[in-house]
This record gives sequence, C-alpha cells and structure tokens, in this order.
Amino acid sequence: MEFFMDAFSNNTGSLHPQLRAPALTVDTELNSDMNTNISSSTPSQVETDCLVVVVLDQSDKKQNANDQSKKGKDGKNKPAPSVATSDAVVRDASQDVISSGEVTGKTFETTLLHRPAGLKAKRLLLLGGGKAKTFSASELRKLAGAAVRSLKAKNLSSFAFALPETSIANADAVRAIVEGAIIGDFEPDYYKSDRKDEKIDALAIVTQADAKALQSAIDAGRIVAESQNFTRDLVNEPSNRMTPSMLAERARKMASEVGLKCEIYSTDKIKELKMGAFWGVAQGSDEPPALIVLRYEPEGAAKDIHLGLVGKGITFDTGGISIKPADGMEKMKYDMAGGATMIGAMRAIGLLKPKVKVTAVIMATENMPSGKAQKPGDVQIAMSGKSIEIINTDAEGRLVLADGLTYARQLGCTHLVDAATLTGAVVVALGYVNAGIFASDDRMYERFANALKQAGEKMWRLPLDDEYKELIKSNIADMANSGARYGGAIFAAMFLKEFAEDTPWIHLDIAGTAWMEDQKPWIAKGPSGIALRSLVEFVRGWSA
Ligand code: BES
Ligand code: MN
Ligand code: ZN
Repeated sequence: MEFFMDAFSNNTGSLHPQLRAPALTVDTELNSDMNTNISSSTPSQVETDCLVVVVLDQSDKKQNANDQSKKGKDGKNKPAPSVATSDAVVRDASQDVISSGEVTGKTFETTLLHRPAGLKAKRLLLLGGGKAKTFSASELRKLAGAAVRSLKAKNLSSFAFALPETSIANADAVRAIVEGAIIGDFEPDYYKSDRKDEKIDALAIVTQADAKALQSAIDAGRIVAESQNFTRDLVNEPSNRMTPSMLAERARKMASEVGLKCEIYSTDKIKELKMGAFWGVAQGSDEPPALIVLRYEPEGAAKDIHLGLVGKGITFDTGGISIKPADGMEKMKYDMAGGATMIGAMRAIGLLKPKVKVTAVIMATENMPSGKAQKPGDVQIAMSGKSIEIINTDAEGRLVLADGLTYARQLGCTHLVDAATLTGAVVVALGYVNAGIFASDDRMYERFANALKQAGEKMWRLPLDDEYKELIKSNIADMANSGARYGGAIFAAMFLKEFAEDTPWIHLDIAGTAWMEDQKPWIAKGPSGIALRSLVEFVRGWSA
C-alpha cells in the first residue's frame, strides 16, 4: 500500500487550481450526469427544448451520375426521404423542408427548425439516418451521439429523441440511443482551464411502448457506455498522471465500487512468478510495474467456463533502448489502452452480472531506456519457460502479454482474449477503421463476431497460418521478439500464440483504433474505448 502512496505524492502540488485532476484525486465519478428516461407522450406532444427525429433515405440504389433517368436533387424520380415516425403532426411540420429537396436523409445531415408548427417542442432537429434499407442499431447509436454533440454545441442541455419506427426491436433501439448519447457526451478536456463543460443533462426517449419493459435496456446501455467512458478517461490521462501504480489504484477503486475482487502485485511478486518477459520490460523504468488482477466470480456460473481478459498496460512506450523517434512519441501514453479496456469491461461485467466467471489480468509498466533497461540481443526467460531473444526493445507489448497469457492460464482460464495497442503494422494493414482480430479457435471467433455485430464495432480477421511460424525464429533462443520485415501484426500474433498454447484464444490489435485521430459527428477526438462493448457482449453471451 505504501508504495502507491509514494507514487501519488510524486505529482501533487503545482496544479492549476481550476483543473480537475482525476489521477490525483482518484476521481470516483464513474457515472454520467445524463439523466435518461422514457417519455410516453407522442413526439408532437413532448415538451422539450428540441425533438430529434430521424429522417431516412428511401432510395435503395446509389445515384448514378450518368443515368439521365434519375433526376438527382429535385427528387422527382427518387422516393422522398421520410421521417421515421408515424406522428402526423411531426410529418406535417417537416413536410415543406423535406419536399424542398434540402433534406436528403444522408447520414448525420442536420436540419434544425425553430417553433415547428403544432409541436410542443421548441425545436425540431431532422437528423439524417442514411438508407432506410440498411438502417440498424449501429447507425442509431451513432445518430444519438451526433444529436448530443450537435445540440450541446448549441448550448442546449436537454432534448427528446423520438424512437425511430423501424424494424429494430424497441429494446435494442433504446439501448443504442442511450449508449450513443453517453459516449457522445464525453469530452477529453479535463486539463483545459477554459473548458466549456457543455453537457447534456437530460435525454428523453419518446415511445409509446411499455416503459417498464424498456428499463433494463436503459440500464444496460448506461452501464456499458459509462464503462466505455471510464476506459476513455484512463486512456486520456498523460503518463505522468497514469503510472502503472496509479492505473492499479484506479482499478482497485473501481473494483470496490462494483464488487469485484482486486489484487495488485509489483516487482517482488513478478519476480517470484518468474515473469521474465514482463520484468525485462519493467526493469528499465524507475516506476514500479503493476500486475493487476480483477476477478468476477458470480454464483450459479458454469463450472467449466472461465474467461480470461488480458490487457497490455504500457503507460508510456518510449521504445526503450530501441528508442522511438521524437515525432509523435507523446501519443504513446495510450499504449495502455488494451489494459484500460479490460478494466472498463470488468466494471460493466461487475454491474451487469452475467453468470460466467471472468478474470482480467492487466500488465502495467513503462517501457523506458535507462542504465537498467534491457538491450537488443538480451535473452529473457518467460514465465512459461520459453526463452526469448530481444531483437527490438520496442516490441515490448508481446513480452508483457506473453507472461499475462501464461498467468491467466495458470489461474485456470479456459478461454483467453487479449487486447493491445500492439503494432504499427496493423495500422498499415487496416487503417483507422477496423481493429485487427486473430483467433486460434473458429467457434470462439464466431461468438466474438456475433458480439462485434451487436456492439456495432469493426474488426477484421487476420490469419495465423502455421507458415507464419518462420517469422518468430531466433538463432539463439526459442523465439525472437522481432525481426520480420513484412506481416508485423501477424508476427506479433504468432508470438502471442506460443503463450496461449492450446487454450482457445483471441487477440485484438487496437493500435489503429484506440485513438480517434479526428473527431467524428458522434464522438470526440481522442480515446475511443474500442473493443469494450464487444468484450462485454462476448462475455454476456456465455452467461449460464
Ligand atoms: N505501442 C507500439 C505500437 C503502436 C504503434 C501503438 C502505433 C499505437 C500506435 C508497439 O509497442 C511498438 O512499438 N511496436 C513496434 C514493433 C516493432 C518494433 C516490431 C511497431 O509496430 O513498430
Ligand atoms: Mn513499443
Ligand atoms: Zn507499445
């Protein structure tokens, strides 16, 4: 315990008085301030600052520029876009602007009408939802985020969202709206003394469906979105305010709030467990490493299933002796996103209480160059007994995860998922849109793919063929941590596979997706919280 206090006292003192400093105060505010409820009045009768209604594009073919029979903007040969509500007053109020052709229903198109005729709402926001044919809960989640972001920019603090009348089940739609709104409300601006603190306080979802029946959808949406924001908050912190021990302390605090068991170990235990790969990375830093174990053990869970979530928690990756160039190095504060995702996922799991045993193992350390740091050419013996030649000290994520996977197996996990900002190569392969997913077991992959779809997250499966094993060969040890010129994301995954051994295992490489390089209509620039929703959905899928 004392060693945590020491770590905290490093950073007290010279702080701007106006700044909220979550890392210093160990911020406990995990809950969004947004009040979310069902309003059972009709869209036109709801009293609100703004009623949001989705407009869908009813054309099913893409407009062809050379096709003279399609008349483009005037909409003559094209079915008009339509509001996704049967409320006649709302339909009338939006009739003129829609038939003018100014509204197309294109995704995220916004048209704001003041004092809409016949409505109790002060404003009517027509929000483009894209093609009616492909409209799903995933689009709806983003639309809710876009509504929040566009309305709070106009200084509104509450609004009502008319539940779109589509084929999406009511509970799924309500959950998507709540999730999207809370995710959209997050701003990574703690350290700006002039931050605006624009927040949406209240969201009413307007539907005549039974409100009681929808309450559990609201609750689930809140829990998942707040957990995602909790993860984003951890990831956003700079490395001087999110050292391994601070990350551990945040995990401990969260665990006590939601009723999980939490164990935190540091140098002594890491050495005792013979985690030579993890320690090889940690030995170069003055900050002590943290091995964070979160356990969720519900009653009535299946005896033979024990899910293990292993996260890369590099709180800063300089590259070590194989040091990174200065340009862009500041971004390596987010190299703990995989670990933060597992911590956030455990928060949601602790609150949602699925009947399945889950253990998270987070490997937290800095990767620093120093007189104590490991050097290229060094050989480390991993916890599993395998020897690793360190070719590049910047390939540190696979080292810490190697011991994390071995440890999770030793704790009895029957299925493993790891998440890590592991390789620049996955960004080359998939850009910023899809995360890379690798799976040693097709059935487990199918389960995860279903979860991805439910959660509205994008990942693309990459191969683990035996032929790639060539990549990890070393002249002097069982394997090398780097070396191949091409296929870098696969190399890293093949390396990890040696430590997952015969336990069904999934690896998520989120290097390109954990940080939003630009803001989007539905989400701020900065930490995305990617993979959390899918992980939670995946875990719930095993509930007995
Ligand atoms: N943390 C990086 C990967 C990364 C890159 C994360 C870009 C986020 C954005 C990882 O530890 C790393 O440095 N990987 C090296 C591996 C190489 C030395 C084999 C890389 O991808 O360049
Ligand atoms: Mn690295
Ligand atoms: Zn790294």
